[in-house]
Parts: sequence; structure tokens; C-alpha cells
Amino acid sequence: MRITWLSRVKVGSVLAQSILDERGRVLLASGIELSDSLIRRLQSRGIRSVYIVDPLCDDVRPDEVVSETTRRTLIEVAYNNLTLLSRDMRTSSAFRQRGLGQEVRKVVNRLLGEIGAHRGMAVPLSAVYDYDAELYHHSVNVTILSIAIGVKLGLTSRQLSDLGVSALLHDVGKLMIPSSVLHKPGKLTSSEYELVKTHTTHGFQMLSGRLDIPSYAAVVAYEHHERLNGEGYPRGIREEQHLYSRIVAVSDVYEALTANRVYRTGYLPHHALEFILGGSAVGFDTTVVDSFIKCVALYPVGTTVRLQSGETGVVVASYPEQPQRPVIRILRDSQGCDLTESYEMDLRENLLAEIIECEF
Ligand SMILES: [Fe+2]
Repeated sequence: MRITWLSRVKVGSVLAQSILDERGRVLLASGIELSDSLIRRLQSRGIRSVYIVDPLCDDVRPDEVVSETTRRTLIEVAYNNLTLLSRDMRTSSAFRQRGLGQEVRKVVNRLLGEIGAHRGMAVPLSAVYDYDAELYHHSVNVTILSIAIGVKLGLTSRQLSDLGVSALLHDVGKLMIPSSVLHKPGKLTSSEYELVKTHTTHGFQMLSGRLDIPSYAAVVAYEHHERLNGEGYPRGIREEQHLYSRIVAVSDVYEALTANRVYRTGYLPHHALEFILGGSAVGFDTTVVDSFIKCVALYPVGTTVRLQSGETGVVVASYPEQPQRPVIRILRDSQGCDLTESYEMDLRENLLAEIIECEF
């Protein structure tokens, strides 16, 4: 299978990986043949890329650190709990839903088990989701990445569990921001930006003082946009952030940069990495960034990439020690013509080859 832009998918292509909606339900199941109307329906939901079956990459299977069932449960739990928390915020405390944290903790612990069982394998993030589902999929990706970083940092299982719960709920305050501002397809005005920033304080209010949710969750919701150099918000504090907030800060920025958003297409993974490395000296915790580099799959297997030479291919292997230099199966030459026989290029050995576009 390979991942490709929806705009380039030919009618009759077969979906190789299910597409999930904001509640983790299957929107379109794998194995379905994409008709013209299905492609248009996906486009209208803001989906830009899909995994399709390709006989030239039949043997290519994305690394599955997290199973689809667990990912689906995570999205469903994120949806249910974020919605209930925002409802609680709007109603009297007497009607507060109780026991929310238990469900979150249960699914986070399941995730811990799966990530633990795949130690040493880089974590690929799911990038196939639509605008309505953005908050929930983003939260799930940030959780997966944060736990993977936590594992590398040697946190205990209790700490990883607290970190995971906090990461899943870190952006809950966004539900208090009007969707028209959050999903505005252009530059925000300064007052709109100020409004978006308040999701941190809203999140803190929604999560603090609840006995069913660990107190770290409120702290992370409040601090995940703070930076060590004091240039973050809401308070602009320096070097006082909790470790969990520092971890979520890195995962959050990386996920947000690489995902396709309503206002722009995602960064190339290695550009996002450079952004984080550039910021690590001043804004991010260097120890966290070091662990992050060792656990994220910059170019997940199945990603279609274009090289500076014009050749196009699919990532068939990537190595945690050199995530920016994967092995590519070249399928099209520099003129865009399909090759009669594909071949593999190991970017660790071809140092002059450079990835310039990524269908991610
Ligand atoms: Fe945020």
C-alpha cells in the first residue's frame, strides 16, 4: 500500500486503510473501491490523503505500533470525554459527569501496553483525518507521541499513564473557542489569536478541581504552550514547566506542523523536525527533544515522496537512528514516467538525494 494525495487518486483505486471519523467510527472501510462520488465526498470533508492499494508496493505495510482497534477506541474516548467536559463547563457543577478519568486511563493503559511491546520501533502518526475530527485525532497523535517520548525518558508506568491522560485532554479548552475562529482558513487577526490562546486557561478551568482526573492534566492544559525561554503563553513563564508539559509541547508542535490543516498543507516531516531542533535550544527542553528524535517515524513506511531529482517513490523502510534518510522504492523517473522495473534507493548511502515533497 501507499499513501497518496486524494486529488491524485484514480477512480477505481482501492482503499488500503480505513478512514475514521471524529468518534473513531469507520467512515470508509479498507477494501472499498473509490468511485468519483466517494472521492468527492472525502474531499468535501477536508480529507487530502488516503492509503491505497498499489500492486507495486503490495509488500509495503506501515509499521503498526498502535493497533487500529486501540486507535479507534482512543479517538472515541477522546471525543466522548472532551465533549462531556465541555458540557460540564457549561452546566451547574451539581450535574457534573463523574468518573471521566477512569475511561481515559483505561484506554491510555492499553496504549502503554502496545507501545511497550514495540519498544525500539519508531512511532508513525496517523495523518488521514478530516477537519471535523481534527481535535480528536490531534489529541490521540499527541498522546501516542508523548508516551513514546516518556518511554525513552525512562518514566515509570504510573508516570506514563498520568502523562497519557494529560496529553489526551491537553486541548480540551479548544471546545470553548468558536469553530469559525479555530478553523478560519486565513490568517487570524490579533484579537482572534488572543481568543485562541485562551484555550489554555479554559482547559485549566475545565480540568482542575475534578477528583476523577489527575491534577497533572489541568497543569498540562495550562502550560503546553509555555516555552523555556519565556516566549510562550498564557503566562510566559521560564523553565518552570512540569516535565509532562514539556513533553506535550514538543509532540503538540510536531503533530500540528506535519498535519494538513484547514489553512495550509503540512510541513515536510524533516522541516518540522528542523523547526523543533532550532527551537530546542531556547524554547523546548533539549532532553525531551533528544528522546523525541529517537522515537518518531519522520517518513512512515508507505509515504510517497518526491526527490530533488524529480524521481518519485514510496518509503519501504526507515531507521530510528537516521529517520531523515529512509529507503525509497523508486516508481517514477525524473520525467514522471512509470518505471518498468522499480528499484530501491537507500538515502543513508545516497547522501546527495534529497526529499523535497511528501504526500503526507
Ligand atoms: Fe493547544
